[in-house]
Amino acid sequence: MKKDVSRTTAVLTAEDIATIVGLRGVEHILDELIDRLRDALLTFDPDRVHSPARAGFQYEEPEVGLLEWMPAMELGRVAAVKTVGYHPRNPTRKGLPSVMATTSVYDTATGQLLALLDATLLTALRTGAASAVATDILAVDGPLSVGVIGCGAQAVTQLHAISRVRPVERVTVLDTDPVVAASYNRRVAFLDRPTTVVNPEGDTRLLADVDVLCTCTSVDVGKGPVLRDGEHRPWLHVNAIGADFPGKQELPLPMLERAVLCPDLPSQCRVEGESQWVQPDRIGPDLATLVKHRSSYEPYRSVLTVFDSTGWALEDLVVAELFIELASREGIGSTVTLQRTATDPFDPYALITP
Ligand SMILES: NC(=O)c1ccc[n+]([C@@H]2O[C@H](COP(=O)([O-])OP(=O)(O)OC[C@H]3O[C@@H](n4cnc5c(N)ncnc54)[C@H](O)[C@@H]3O)[C@@H](O)[C@H]2O)c1
Repeated sequence: MKKDVSRTTAVLTAEDIATIVGLRGVEHILDELIDRLRDALLTFDPDRVHSPARAGFQYEEPEVGLLEWMPAMELGRVAAVKTVGYHPRNPTRKGLPSVMATTSVYDTATGQLLALLDATLLTALRTGAASAVATDILAVDGPLSVGVIGCGAQAVTQLHAISRVRPVERVTVLDTDPVVAASYNRRVAFLDRPTTVVNPEGDTRLLADVDVLCTCTSVDVGKGPVLRDGEHRPWLHVNAIGADFPGKQELPLPMLERAVLCPDLPSQCRVEGESQWVQPDRIGPDLATLVKHRSSYEPYRSVLTVFDSTGWALEDLVVAELFIELASREGIGSTVTLQRTATDPFDPYALITP
């Protein structure tokens, strides 16, 4: 008797993701994601969670861009691979986001594809959530004055996620593209926080006036840093998320050298993040260590700290599983039978033989 081993794959389109967010509320989802990410970091065991180095294509035609694949696996349970495109000219030339992604989730018992998700919003949410986890541990207590340099897509979830772990009193932003800077206020209007736009020459004024700074620019390789060094509050915490490729840099070197520099994934940050610019012995505790030993690191709230965020595939696995669970609970999304192997497993021609 031949056994039917076909299994369906869950498909979550961008519209399905939006429906889930609409039903649950983006606040609720961000809070849940921040909690889940914190839990994943708290229990992170490199012997059980594997995330081999991401790889990809970098090219200059037909457009300047990057296509990368980012794998993560929890041993004995599940694996996910996010494929992410980064095309910084997308917004102005094509009306598309710079960062567009899809995630595939696999059953590690069989290799079958369990789910396929649009991961563009998911990437923005998980990048915000990672900054929220770091900010919660490292930022000064109390209402914050927040600065944002680079006001694109990630800048929205950076500010939103931070507002879930600390009250935000006011916001000062800067972008080299005045149109993007001017529209930021509208995109974060739901937060109802006074937002001031300064021009790029106002970088040192912005730096002097904030408790938390998020740098989320599409600065090109070799064109950083995106701000000049200058006076700042002694307790400044920076979420530096834009340096995520060899040669990219957002923060000035002297600032990096005097900061406690906390990478998301040290091996990746040493190659792609702000950590690539400092001596290895200048690199401080990573995100999982901060979470596991939170009380030991909270004293860093009084000094300059930098979260070196390059984006970790574990974050993509956590956010994908959250949305798969919510979709199943709410009955959203569709299924396809992509991998029907209903007949003799030793006969690849079985499906085409009458
Ligand atoms: N760390 C992570 O996990 C992670 C995740 C997603 C994206 N990223 C990175 O974050 C960055 C932003 O991504 P996005 O999706 O928001 O891109 P985006 O294109 O939507 O926005 C980037 C903005 O930065 C501005 N900018 C470019 N150079 C600048 C400079 N020198 N000073 C001030 N503003 C400048 C651009 O005008 C643009 O408005 C990219 O570099 C991307 O690779 C990191």
